[in-house]
Amino acid sequence: MRLKTALFSALLSTLLLQLLPPALMQSVHESSSADLLFSKIYDAHLSMIPPPKVNGTFNVTFDMAIAQLLELDELKQTVSMLTWRRMSWYDTRLSWRGRVFDGNLSFNSISSIKIPNSQIWKPDLVVYNDVRKTELDWSLYYASIQSDGLIRLNTPQLMKLSCPINVQLFPYDKQVCRMKIGSWTMDGFELNLLNASTHADLSSMAEDNEFCLVKAPLERNVIKYACCDAPYPDITYSILLQVNAACQPGTFWSCSVHFLC
Ligand SMILES: *[C@@H]1O[C@H](CO)[C@@H](O)[C@H](O)[C@H]1NC(C)=O
Ligand SMILES: *[C@@H]1O[C@H](CO)[C@@H](O)[C@H](O)[C@H]1NC(C)=O
Ligand SMILES: *[C@@H]1O[C@H](CO)[C@@H](O)[C@H](O)[C@H]1NC(C)=O
Ligand SMILES: *[C@@H]1O[C@H](CO)[C@@H](O)[C@H](O)[C@H]1NC(C)=O
Repeated sequence: MRLKTALFSALLSTLLLQLLPPALMQSVHESSSADLLFSKIYDAHLSMIPPPKVNGTFNVTFDMAIAQLLELDELKQTVSMLTWRRMSWYDTRLSWRGRVFDGNLSFNSISSIKIPNSQIWKPDLVVYNDVRKTELDWSLYYASIQSDGLIRLNTPQLMKLSCPINVQLFPYDKQVCRMKIGSWTMDGFELNLLNASTHADLSSMAEDNEFCLVKAPLERNVIKYACCDAPYPDITYSILLQVNAACQPGTFWSCSVHFLC
C-alpha cells in the first residue's frame, strides 16, 4: 500500500514535470535568480541617497492619470480625486546589465525585477495644493527595475486640491482647478523634473462616472528666484471641470454636483 502510494506519487511528479510548461519552470528558476540578483545590487543605505547624475543631469519623468473625481466641496473650495501617478528615473547603482558580481556571477538574462518601493530611493514629488493631512500609504506598491537601472513606479494617490471655485459663475461656467507638482527639497540642478505627456491621462476614468472632467492639459514651468541660480521646475495641470446643466438656478446649493462629459 505504501509502496503503491510512493510509486503513484513518483509517477505523478514525473508526469507533472513533463506537463509543466517550460515557461513556468523557467519563471521559477528566474525568480530565485532574481532574489540572488537583488541581494547583489541592494544596499540599504542607497534608499536614502539620491542616485548619481548621468551626464550631468538627474531626470525624473512624471505622468498622471485621473481615475475618478470624488467630491467637490463648494464651501471649503476643494476638489477631491483619485489619481494614478507614474514616475520613472534612472538609478544606475541598481543596474546589472553587463556587470559581473563576485567574480563570475552575471544576470544578463534577467530584463527586469520588481521590488517593494520602500527598498529604493524615490523622488520627493509633492502636490503643493493638496490639503489632505495624511499621505496615502503606498509603501506596499512595487517598483520595477530594468537591467539598465530604469525605475518605474506607479502608485495611486488620493488628492484634495485646494482651488478657488468662482461661486458667482459656478455652475454656469467652466472651472479650472490647478494642480502643481514638484520636488519638495531638490532644485532643478539636483532633480530635473520632466513631463511625459501634454495632458493628464483620462482614458481610465469610468465611462459612466457621474462626475466628469473636460480636459486636463499641463504646463512645465521653470521658475527662477532672484536669490539663487538654481531653477525650480514644476508640472502644473489645469483641470477643467464643467457642471451638469441639470442643476438649476437656486437649487444648485442643494443639488449634488455633477459634471458634464
Ligand atoms: C535629461 O533630460 C534632458 C531634457 O531636459 C535631456 O536632454 C537629457 O539627455 C536627459 N538626460 C539623460 C541622462 O537622460
Ligand atoms: C552620456 O554621454 C555620453 C557621451 O556623450 C553618451 O555616449 C551617452 O549615451 C550618454 N548617456 C545618456 C544616458 O544619455
Ligand atoms: C564562481 O566562483 C565561486 C567562488 O567565488 C566558485 O565556487 C564557483 O565554482 C565559480 N563558478 C563558476 C561557474 O566558475
Ligand atoms: C511637456 O509639456 C510642454 C508644455 O509645457 C509640452 O510642450 C511638451 O511637449 C511636453 N512634453 C512631452 C514629452 O509631452
